[in-house]
Amino acid sequence: MDGAKRESGRRVLVLNGPNLNLLGRREPDQYGHTTLKEIEDELRSYAASQVAEVRFVQSNHEGELIDAIHKAIGWADAMIVNAASLTHSSVGLRDAIIAAAIPTVEVHLSNIYRREEFRHRSLIADVAAGQITGFGAFSYRLGMEAALYLLDKKGS
Ligand code: DQA
Repeated sequence: MDGAKRESGRRVLVLNGPNLNLLGRREPDQYGHTTLKEIEDELRSYAASQVAEVRFVQSNHEGELIDAIHKAIGWADAMIVNAASLTHSSVGLRDAIIAAAIPTVEVHLSNIYRREEFRHRSLIADVAAGQITGFGAFSYRLGMEAALYLLDKKGS
């Protein structure tokens, strides 16, 4: 398979929700010291090493995240979604993921099941292919590996 062809089937949107723009300085005991830019830089170079293309969207606004999912239709082959607080409340985001029908990996830096009870419920979990939670910034790398695994599985 030639490079161009492989890349075209390996486009991944990484979507980050409210307050994740503050990573690095936001509750470092919970979320670590790595900034969102550092996470994105690492993912970009990892994706390139795997002949994949990646785009990043972060927004503090539910509607913008939904718009980003709509825009990903026709471009993204997979999505990595950390919906942050909206994980636990947004039917709109859940419905957008269902509507887009793009294979989705849900990620969280913290282990949401070791935290307050209201974080134990994810409205995204059962519409995602799977969930990665609790590995800090490394959750995103695992999320990327999972997304590419899904695409390889689909393509084989
Ligand atoms: C989070 C967990 C959510 O409960 C929280 O609201 C976040 C971040 C995580 O990555 O651990 O903002 O999604």
